[in-house]
Order: sequence, then structure tokens, then C-alpha cells
Amino acid sequence: MKIYVFGLREDEIEPLNQWKAANTDVDVDYTTEILTEETANLAKGADGVVAVQTQPYTRKALEIIHDLGISKFSVRNVGLDGFNFKDLNDFGFTLTYVPVYSPNAIAEHASFLVGRLLRRVPEFDKKFQSGNFKWFPTIGTEISGKTVGVIGTGHIGSVFARIMQFGYGANVIAYDIDPNPALENLGIYVDTLDELLEKSDIISIHTPLAPKDHHMLDADAINKMKNGVYLINCARGGLLDNQALIDGLNSGKIAGAGLDVLENENGIFQNEFNSVEDVDDEVFQNLAHRDNVIITPHTAFYTERAVHNMIFDSMNDNKLMISGKEPKNAVDTHK
Ligand code: COI
Repeated sequence: MKIYVFGLREDEIEPLNQWKAANTDVDVDYTTEILTEETANLAKGADGVVAVQTQPYTRKALEIIHDLGISKFSVRNVGLDGFNFKDLNDFGFTLTYVPVYSPNAIAEHASFLVGRLLRRVPEFDKKFQSGNFKWFPTIGTEISGKTVGVIGTGHIGSVFARIMQFGYGANVIAYDIDPNPALENLGIYVDTLDELLEKSDIISIHTPLAPKDHHMLDADAINKMKNGVYLINCARGGLLDNQALIDGLNSGKIAGAGLDVLENENGIFQNEFNSVEDVDDEVFQNLAHRDNVIITPHTAFYTERAVHNMIFDSMNDNKLMISGKEPKNAVDTHK
């Protein structure tokens, strides 16, 4: 059997080689290119494909893969917003994903963003570079005692909630349309999103981007928040309305934001520019030059453990599907 891997990065070569060494019955080939209509034909001769990308999977690219006789598709990540499930179903694909490659990777990163914002690290970094080692006026705020609102309490949100509550001593509240039984004994759930928005000093969002949740945090939602709220988004850029965020930062309603994802990140993140000024994007330029905004280029997931698990879990599931067996993490694309 043969598996074709799209978008393989340098850091994934070693874990892929380890997987290959443990699965010598599988022929594996790869490209560093992501899956597009231009690259899809590279999978010719394969029985399954494995991919990861932040750019959408186009219908045309999926059609080409289908025309090559391939129906087993595995992604190496958790977010599925790059797919139109109708396309997958029209072409008869079975899809797997990797829902728990490392919830800690993302939850820890979100907690660092909170800490860096509240202790004003970007300002101290700037002062340090200019030789100014004075404390005043860059006084910080403690997380302890603050109300931290967690939107979405799946694998990642629940680790983040625990870090905030047990690590930092925050008063954690959470909202989820489908509360996590593992957190119920913590007594953290509120009944409505509005209640969370109104009560939180710090809000971190950990939900997938379903079409209905596009701009879940829009101007209306931000208006309901406390003055001086801090927002963290390590989930998907499309959950947060950029213009509403900018307006909130301008008015002081939002005291700071930690953003690992941006709605307009494609074409910016994973590229190298000569300087930050060379990024031709108004929203990015607006946000990138604020002391109270920290942008990380979709790196929250990016740890050695996560990358290893993304390769192993996706390759294992693709192999299981090709062998006619039940994969561990099948996606119900008919929901
Ligand atoms: C995800 O797992 O969905 C991520 O956001 C990570 C990225 C490699 C796509």
C-alpha cells in the first residue's frame, strides 16, 4: 500500500522516518507542497493521502484526488474548517483527523499569552533593548484572583481552564454548548455566553470554527464585556471580528489581546518577509504595532510532542483505513 503526504515540513521528516521504520509494509512518498489543484496529481498511485494546511482544501483539488482513485484522507491536525464537508461527501472520501495531538501545547501557549500581556512583557522587552531597566511605569496585573472566561471546554479549553484555576489561582468560569463531564465537578460552567462575556476579566476562546460561529466575538459581544478585558485567541481567526477587535482596542474597552491566529493569516504566517513593515495587510499592520497586542504566527500547536503525534496518529489512521479497518479518529462528515 502507498500513502502520499502533502505539505511535509522539515521538522516532520524525522517523525515520518520513525513511522516508516515501524511500518515497512507501507510505501510512503511526500511533497513539501500543500494540496492544491496544481499539486494534487502528485498523489497518483497512492491509496491514501495525508495532509495539513491552513489554506482551504478546494473542491477541484479533492476532485483530482478522487479521480486518482483515492478515497482515504487523513489530516494531521484538529481544525476541519478548511473543508467543505459536502465536497468530501460528493467525492466519497472518508476522513480522519488528530483531535488530541497535544492539548497542552495550545493551552500552555494561551496561558503564556495571558501572562505576557498582564506583565506587559512587550513593553519591558522594548525598554530593555533601549537600555531602560526601570520598573516605572510598566506596572503589571496578577492573574491570581481575576475571572478567566473559557469559551469551549474540549481537550484544549479544559487544560487551559485547569492551568488558570490550579496553576494561577484564577476564578475560572466556562461556557460550552456541550459541557465537558470531566469539568463538571469544578463548578465552573455558566449558563450563557453572555454571562461569561459580562463577568470575565480575561477571555480565551477554544472552539472550532463552525460556519455558525464565524465572528462569535463581534462588536455586539465585545460591548457586553467588561471594560479593560483581555482577549486570547489560539483557536481560529474567524471566531473574532478584526474590526470589532481594533475598535475595542482603540476605545480601551479591550486592554490587550493575545492572538495566535488571524482571520487574514494566510499569505502572512508561514512566510518570511524582510521586515514586519513589508506585510501588506492593513489589519495586520494595525495590530502588529501595538504594545498591548501579542501576535504569534499560529505557533501554539508547534511542539516536538505535538508534531510527533500529528504524524503518527494521522499515518496510523490512514493505514487502518486503507487496510479496511476502523480508524481511531474518524470524522463524521455527514453531521
Ligand atoms: C490545528 O491543529 O488545527 C492547527 O491549528 C494546527 C495547524 C498545523 C493547522
